Amino acid sequence: MQTITLNNNVEMPILGFGTFLINDKNECERSVINAIQTGYRLIDTAKAYGNEDAVGLGIKNSGIKREELFVTTKINFGDFEKEDCEKALKDSFEKLQVDYIDMVLLHWPFGNTYAAYRVLEDFYERGLIRAIGVSNYMPSQLIDLIKFNKVVPAVNQIEVNLHCQQKELREINKKYNVATQAYAPLGQGKAEYLYELPVLVEIAKKYNKTPRQIALKFLIQNNISVIPKSVHTERIKENFDLFDFELNKEEMDIIYSLDKGKNLIGCSQDIALAEFAMTWI
Ligand SMILES: NC(=O)c1ccc[n+]([C@@H]2O[C@H](COP(=O)([O-])OP(=O)(O)OC[C@H]3O[C@@H](n4cnc5c(N)ncnc54)[C@H](OP(=O)(O)O)[C@@H]3O)[C@@H](O)[C@H]2O)c1
Repeated sequence: MQTITLNNNVEMPILGFGTFLINDKNECERSVINAIQTGYRLIDTAKAYGNEDAVGLGIKNSGIKREELFVTTKINFGDFEKEDCEKALKDSFEKLQVDYIDMVLLHWPFGNTYAAYRVLEDFYERGLIRAIGVSNYMPSQLIDLIKFNKVVPAVNQIEVNLHCQQKELREINKKYNVATQAYAPLGQGKAEYLYELPVLVEIAKKYNKTPRQIALKFLIQNNISVIPKSVHTERIKENFDLFDFELNKEEMDIIYSLDKGKNLIGCSQDIALAEFAMTWI
């Protein structure tokens, strides 16, 4: 599996498995097992998804050693005060049934982010978390966090897909040595027309792949980590089967031109982000 070297030299798989909206516990455990047995080594969850326990069972029953996996969870902003954050982490360790977590992110840039980030720094320094980072951070928030804390976040997990390619935000991440991880890399099912565009269909045909595989590969060739979610075996396999071809420059340029510069899922640009996030309290 291709990896991204994080700013603390931890290797993070470039392709992972997302678990947002897999609410049924059995389906979640089964999907995680399925993904790991397909070859995924990064599993992304969050307290807010309410499925850390099912993800933990999936990891435990996957037949793959814990040390071969990269497990990410996130702290929700309802838990950003120091004691709440410590308790949320304790719960995550228990639910995931692990004695270390590979990466923990602050899910949103709201509330007492400083208190929560300093708890993450403490756990990181004690070796309980291998990498710490953030999600949904806009440039000014990211720079602020870096400036007034010790540990530079390893990752900023943001919406990135063909429709919303986040060129500017990705450049800021890169400038500050923060890896970009794409959530909703397939657009969360919200821009399905993209996968019928003749230009994309033609590129897909050339490589005997699907347009969605081309979309994920485009992000990977930009050195963006992607974490597509699916509960369907064939799609889990499809989304993993990305490493036997390379898009050429002309094809990459065609796909760059599909960028609409607007968030698709309505929650990762400043005001929209804040208003959406507050519904999650
Ligand atoms: N940090 C954050 O704020 C944040 C926000 C959103 C997401 N995330 C993380 O990022 C992960 C990925 O994002 P996401 O789940 O929102 O969206 P996504 O991965 O872009 O899209 C998932 C949707 O696409 C469908 N799908 C997946 N593969 C497909 C395929 N090959 N063909 C056709 N349809 C396919 C899935 O349906 P089926 O399941 O029915 O196949 C599901 O409806 C999440 O699961 C979560 O772990 C983080």
